[in-house]
Amino acid sequence: MESRVRLIVIISLSVFCWFGPTVGVAPPAVECYGVGNTDCKAYSYQGLFSDRNECRAAKVVYPTTEQEVIAAVADGVKNGLKMRVISKGSHSLPSLVCPGGNGAGMFISTRDYKGIAVNTGPGTPTATVEAGVMLKAFMDEASRHGLTFPHMPYWGGLSISGILGTGAHGSGIWGKGSSMYEYVKEIRLVVPASEEDGYAKVINLVAGVDDEILNAARLSLGVLGVISTVTLELQPMFKRSFSLVEKSDVDLETQVALNAEQNEFGDITWYPAQKLAVYRLDNRVPVVTTGEGVNKYIHLQPLPAALFEAARLSEEVDETSGDGQAKCMRATAQVSALNLMGHGFTNNGTHFTGYPVVGFQNSIATSGTCEDTTIPSLMCVWDRRHKGVLSFEEGFTVSFSNIPAFIRDVKALVALNPESLCGIGLYAGILMRHIKKSRSAYLGPIEDGVELDIVYYRSRDPHVPRLYQDVTEEIEQMLLFKYNARPHWGKSQVVGFVTTKDMYPELPRFLKVKNQLDPQGLFSNDWTDSVLNVDGAAANLQKFGPHCALDGQCICTEDIHCAPEKGYFCQAGRIYTEARVCRKVSNVNETSFAYLTHDADSCVDPWCSLSIL
Ligand SMILES: Cc1cc2nc3c(=O)[nH]c(=O)nc-3n(C[C@H](O)[C@H](O)[C@H](O)COP(=O)(O)OP(=O)(O)OC[C@H]3O[C@@H](n4cnc5c(N)ncnc54)[C@H](O)[C@@H]3O)c2cc1C
Ligand SMILES: *[C@@H]1O[C@H](CO)[C@@H](O)[C@H](O)[C@H]1NC(C)=O
Ligand SMILES: *[C@@H]1O[C@H](CO)[C@@H](O)[C@H](O)[C@H]1NC(C)=O
Repeated sequence: MESRVRLIVIISLSVFCWFGPTVGVAPPAVECYGVGNTDCKAYSYQGLFSDRNECRAAKVVYPTTEQEVIAAVADGVKNGLKMRVISKGSHSLPSLVCPGGNGAGMFISTRDYKGIAVNTGPGTPTATVEAGVMLKAFMDEASRHGLTFPHMPYWGGLSISGILGTGAHGSGIWGKGSSMYEYVKEIRLVVPASEEDGYAKVINLVAGVDDEILNAARLSLGVLGVISTVTLELQPMFKRSFSLVEKSDVDLETQVALNAEQNEFGDITWYPAQKLAVYRLDNRVPVVTTGEGVNKYIHLQPLPAALFEAARLSEEVDETSGDGQAKCMRATAQVSALNLMGHGFTNNGTHFTGYPVVGFQNSIATSGTCEDTTIPSLMCVWDRRHKGVLSFEEGFTVSFSNIPAFIRDVKALVALNPESLCGIGLYAGILMRHIKKSRSAYLGPIEDGVELDIVYYRSRDPHVPRLYQDVTEEIEQMLLFKYNARPHWGKSQVVGFVTTKDMYPELPRFLKVKNQLDPQGLFSNDWTDSVLNVDGAAANLQKFGPHCALDGQCICTEDIHCAPEKGYFCQAGRIYTEARVCRKVSNVNETSFAYLTHDADSCVDPWCSLSIL
């Protein structure tokens, strides 16, 4: 095992050293088929939105100034067009960015609207960013002024206004917590207006003054209008020192809350099938501490597209042949390789020599962007130009009080059939990040807890069941109904939102602001209406029909929602028996599964070795 793992590590490290920091140009989120930016379609970063609907609009505009944003909104209002804002990268999976209106609407893209102004004081330093500014650019610009920002998503290619749009976050419950919207001081919002006011106007929302509206705009799903600029509060630059410590998951139940208490920036990656937990011990240290670490977290780095395609191919082979053991083998090898190589973190920008990694906040908090390249064959794993990954990406927040019982339930599922959860080990395990109850946003978390990111295989063909889909479905329904988990607004499959309408006590306040600012609902679409339950639209969320449960479009109530012709029937959950899941019941004898441990030496086929990355 050792030699094989070492070989893999060497291969992957040499990929890094060879290509250094260059990265692949991502494809545009909006592509137009008519003249002058008309007849357009938008894509998620994976190519598909969670509902698989076509995301069309009659046109796209690319404002570069606030005046141009106002002009775009005025044009939309005057002509009664449905409008949605879309970022340069379109990194949300639900079809949030689609204007609806049968393709007659308008995309307002923030791609070219990206100025940053840092205000160094007196008073709290701040940065005012235009809507399209990317997280990485924001962090780098603040650092040029000796300033920084505490919490953010782990990847720098997201736009600041898109992050606010879905309430995106990092990890930590100290102070104001890890959601970016908590640090907003001011938002300039462009909203519909009357004909006398020229059909569009800017409202400037200041924290402490306009909270009734600002607390809706902090996390708005884009239904209030267009965020023009955001002013965020900054801090003096600091460094962080962190270690990733791999341990058995035997006491994970009690370790979660401790990790949150003891680490300003802690997190945990759990590999339930491997019975492993990787604890991130991560705190701030003074700027004088030695260390020039840089976050090159491997799952978010560009690599040769052929690797992703090979990995996909081997997973498709396992899916077709029903070979869960092969997934276990690869997942185990992959986890070992990643741990050995420090998951891509470097101590000095190029090499990983061991923990702790110490570095400036802007270099550690978030990784590069997959933009600006010279080597087109290098792409990020989610790039839709290659035939690599297509995955479901679940993001659910569970309160600290519920997390121990949830962990026990998942362990019980593993005990019933260890290989059923190997698949998620191929997608970086279950990432657990600490989230604080919102002090401000109406649509923010309602309790302190942990956001679980669970990523797994999605078939390109929605009519094909996936291996052990009953287990991921059971976990999802357990989260929703037994543990009152809250889906991340920018992730999760359609059924992840079935309970959302009852989840937010402040939803009526949010909807009141929405009605006040956009009474015609020009900035709303079918998806936002159903997740916000506008006029009872939550009833339209699930799309029942043959095979709907295979692709996360419904929770099965009848066998036809699964794939009875392939042996998948709508059955009760095994641990959470209220769940209704699609399970293959022909010739599966649960009790006959023995737990086998796997290592990289049992990787016999070339796809297996390649896909260990
Ligand atoms: C590789 C990767 C890593 C990620 N890491 C994390 C993470 O660490 N933590 C986390 O919480 N999430 C994470 N996410 C999810 C991500 O943060 C959200 O999906 C985020 O909303 C995407 O931002 P975007 O700029 O692509 O916005 P989009 O997907 O384009 O838009 C998101 C929403 O915001 C609205 N919006 C965008 N701009 C404006 C504006 N100017 N005015 C009004 N509305 C606007 C859009 O209409 C839409 O509703 C990750 C996603 C990917 C692909
Ligand atoms: C980083 O450290 C490695 C090993 O200690 C060294 O070989 C390399 O040159 C260093 N890189 C930089 C940029 O200092
Ligand atoms: C399932 O496996 C157990 C243990 O090997 C065996 O006793 C039982 O008969 C099997 N059941 C079926 C239906 O094959």
